[in-house]
Amino acid sequence: MVSATRNAFATWLSGACVIPSLPLILFLPPMKTTLSLSPAAQLETECLVAVVLDPAEKDRGEKDKIEAFVSADRAVQQAAADLISSGDLTGKSFETAWLHRPTGLEAKRLLLIGGGKAKSFSVNELRKLAGAAVRALKPRTLRSLAFVIPENVPAEEAVRAIAEGAIVGNFDPDTYKSDRKDQNVESLVIVASGEQASLQRALDEACILAESQNFTRELVNEPSNRMTPTILANRAQEMAKETGLKCEVYGADKIKELKMGAFWGVAQGSDEPPALIVMRYEPTGAPEKPVLGLVGKGVTFDTGGISIKPADNMEKMKYDMAGGATMIGAMRAIALLKPKIKVIGIVCATENMPSGKAQKPGDVQTAMSGKTIEIINTDAEGRLVLADGLCYARQLGCTHLIDAATLTGAVVVALGYANAGIFASDDAMYQRFAKALDKAGEKMWRLPLDDEYKDQIKSSIADIMNTGGRWGGAITAAMFLKEFAEDTPWIHLDIAGTAWMEDSKAWIAKGPSGIAVRSLVEFAREFGSS
Ligand code: BES
Ligand code: MN
Ligand code: ZN
Repeated sequence: MVSATRNAFATWLSGACVIPSLPLILFLPPMKTTLSLSPAAQLETECLVAVVLDPAEKDRGEKDKIEAFVSADRAVQQAAADLISSGDLTGKSFETAWLHRPTGLEAKRLLLIGGGKAKSFSVNELRKLAGAAVRALKPRTLRSLAFVIPENVPAEEAVRAIAEGAIVGNFDPDTYKSDRKDQNVESLVIVASGEQASLQRALDEACILAESQNFTRELVNEPSNRMTPTILANRAQEMAKETGLKCEVYGADKIKELKMGAFWGVAQGSDEPPALIVMRYEPTGAPEKPVLGLVGKGVTFDTGGISIKPADNMEKMKYDMAGGATMIGAMRAIALLKPKIKVIGIVCATENMPSGKAQKPGDVQTAMSGKTIEIINTDAEGRLVLADGLCYARQLGCTHLIDAATLTGAVVVALGYANAGIFASDDAMYQRFAKALDKAGEKMWRLPLDDEYKDQIKSSIADIMNTGGRWGGAITAAMFLKEFAEDTPWIHLDIAGTAWMEDSKAWIAKGPSGIAVRSLVEFAREFGSS
């Protein structure tokens, strides 16, 4: 809807810092998604998509020729029969083949897409295939597709995965290209069989999850001149108004009044005012406890401060607010999905700048909790803003805490781009989160929080220092945060290596990934239902 107008407006709006009250625009209009319970053969569509699997593993040892198979009904199998028996399509992951005017089908085209080994095929592969199908359509002139759910996955889960994958796959980060062509796929039909009401519910929920993930990605994608703390706060407020959340935004005065000396220590160096964003989801009928606190690092640009970063790659530090954007996206989904649990989202938004007012190495700051912090490196700013965010969440009554942050380069050294780092002070809470990760199809790897690491952040002048030396940098950063989560069960997600994708994949564009949004929401929903 009106996306051309929106783009024109966005182009005109050069340097939103000039007019901070103007809201930025959601560029991606929602994909129209519907269910079809009729046979795939009867569906009139521009493009019918079906999954082809490679049975090799299962049938190893058999003498017969091993052929890939189309995981759909007879009519679709027959339409693809020649192609399959020719051996041109083997079912290898993301392999594609197009058939025009497929025999026996009403569809104009049949897109066959390889799902890999049949034995290991799951909804997590299916989610990616749906993304890959959408991304195969985008550069063509095709604007709609109908995806047939494969036969060997439960229908409800399949509907969820296809909708999520398709919507996430539809996102591209080329917002400010003046020759940007609108290549978005507009409509998706999921061809399924089963009980309509429950399939429809699965579909509606999946759309909310994926659109919230894309909302996070849009926030993260913006450059820092168009995504200042003030603008981020405006976006959160706008979202809250649309979804019925309470949202308060506080500035420097309140940050000082709350004695958030760690947060303010970072914010004091910037001319751009900081924002403490507090979003509350308090559904009627939810129990008093638990109260889940979601705390996000919202550093809209990280120069490193006085301990300034090298110029190479510094532009990437516009995504240092990804943890905060993750929490804003998660709160959106929670507000719309309405689990029976109280959730408070807190984002500590600021720039980290060098200036005559900036904090300096050696400075000592007093955090909101009363702990004193010796600043060794002003580039270890994320843990400072989060220290006060976590403390504030506890003061507001949160009984369980999760933070998300692009916190350390060290987590990228440890885990690369495939897994985010996860730390947990409470095993039971970790187990629940691990289930949510599995449901969302997101990957994180648990790292330790042993007391031994605490020695590395002991200070001789203050209670604690903000860096722990070279080794185990992701862990010592987490140990620092733990001091402020205190005895409240807490999980820390270090998404420095996963919030931004350096390369595109068949199923997702390069750029902001929206990692952790779906898992956080799945966690809140499960936590609220038990
Ligand atoms: N925002 C960075 C971490 C980061 C690095 C995010 C790479 C995304 C990609 C963080 O504030 C930072 O600068 N961390 C320092 C900590 C060090 C000074 C102890 C780091 O990791 O180098
Ligand atoms: Mn930094
Ligand atoms: Zn940072």
